[in-house]
Amino acid sequence: MTDINKLRNQIDEIDSQLAELFQKRMETVEKVAEYKKLNGISTNDPSREQKIIDKHLPEVEEKWQPYYRDFQEELFVLSKKYQDTKNLNDDPFIRYGMDFSEYRDAAFNASQNARKAMVRNPETVNGTVGSLCGDDGTIIAFDSVYDAYDRVPNKRKASYAGGIQGNPDFNETVFNWLNRLDNIRIPHRNVATPGGTGAISLAVTNLLDKHETLLIPSIAWGSYRIMAGQHDLKVDTYEIFENNEVSINGMKKKCAEMMECQHKVVIIINDPCQNPTGATMGKKLWAELIEYLNELSKQGPVAVINDIAYFDYAIDWQNSTAYMECFNEMSDNMLAVVCFSCSKTLTAYGMRVGNAMILARREEAAEHLYNTFIRTARASWSNVNNGFMDCFVKMVNENKEGFLKEKQEALDLLKNRSRIFLQEAEECGLPLYPYKEGFFATVRIDDEDLLNRYHKALDSHDIYTVKFARGIRVALCGIPTNKCIGLAGRMKDILNEVM
Ligand SMILES: Cc1ncc(COP(=O)(O)O)c(C=O)c1O
Repeated sequence: MTDINKLRNQIDEIDSQLAELFQKRMETVEKVAEYKKLNGISTNDPSREQKIIDKHLPEVEEKWQPYYRDFQEELFVLSKKYQDTKNLNDDPFIRYGMDFSEYRDAAFNASQNARKAMVRNPETVNGTVGSLCGDDGTIIAFDSVYDAYDRVPNKRKASYAGGIQGNPDFNETVFNWLNRLDNIRIPHRNVATPGGTGAISLAVTNLLDKHETLLIPSIAWGSYRIMAGQHDLKVDTYEIFENNEVSINGMKKKCAEMMECQHKVVIIINDPCQNPTGATMGKKLWAELIEYLNELSKQGPVAVINDIAYFDYAIDWQNSTAYMECFNEMSDNMLAVVCFSCSKTLTAYGMRVGNAMILARREEAAEHLYNTFIRTARASWSNVNNGFMDCFVKMVNENKEGFLKEKQEALDLLKNRSRIFLQEAEECGLPLYPYKEGFFATVRIDDEDLLNRYHKALDSHDIYTVKFARGIRVALCGIPTNKCIGLAGRMKDILNEVM
């Protein structure tokens, strides 16, 4: 008998034992399902799962631990799937584990309520949706962008893009836009995506195995969690503040923990102009972070998903990419995916165009991820809005100055609104997260009960905002300047009422 046949016989024997144990385990699971049904207990119990993993992981040699973890996670899924099927908790048409409860988007819902209120009360403050509006309360659409769009021939608008990865001239224009300080010196690949959302989603889908954990900020754009859920990923959070100042200590701590248990780190960093707080790390903290992650990457791969949605509305926007210099210092075992959004930069939310820029020191690492991104794109949205990719290229080549002038005017408007709001908040003692720049400022409320009461009370005063974990987001980008005046004081009074 050949060696391989001997080994296969051994595997067969082990599989027989596993089958017997599996049968026993499922019979016990059946009893658990009955008990849970009788007592109205939910199938899902993440803390119990964690306890089981923590208990048994050390029983396995260290090199097998990541695989054992996957094996155990898969057992949990099978067990829950059986329980939910037996207890009629699932929908047999839908892939197991998908959340099929009604989807209510916090920002879009709040915005609808604000719009209804506006009809009855023109003094209503709509601080809900993250689109830049002028002082007349309507969305800003830059002429420089839409004139360029009008110059794109109809037949180009009607055509598919030049490739699933996007048009080469678009990808190059985006790269140059992000590399405006000429500070990116490592291999890169660009893939066009439907909005920044598409770029982040590509990264989240392709960088982690199912059941693995994605790191996101403890206060963050809600879609990160939804993306993780769609791909059977877990989420853990890190703090971005210490003593109400931006800090990377929370990130370092969580990345170290993640490396220890998962042997791989994938972290989303929404910087500069974080949504919802308006915080920005700056080049010094980025340099420190990359240095730390380089050291950590000796133990396993580290991927940084840098969501730069709002970077063109940083106060010093010309230099808002200065920190990208730090990506050149990444080790061979690190990579970054920088997610760009035309929705924000060009105020072209409905055009659904963005870009994922992969950066890696090793050409091969960039190329591999690029190839997986293209396949995922092909299988999900196929290709990106051709006319608008052309529009971006045209605008940059033919009327960049006109665009920058319009963008600067919009930025000045935003700066003035945030100056008023921040100054008044400080004067009246409205507690804010440390805002530096960007579309949103957020009132800090740690107590969940108070947060809920406060949010409701603001609604009842026709001040519409979006509730986040531990904060109330005020979209300064959409509130006309005259309505920003006195807003912080009113919000503080309402807070006092509900305290
Ligand atoms: C933090 C953040 N990242 C990314 C996006 C992506 O936007 P889009 O898909 O429209 O480009 C948004 C949109 O609101 C956002 O707030």
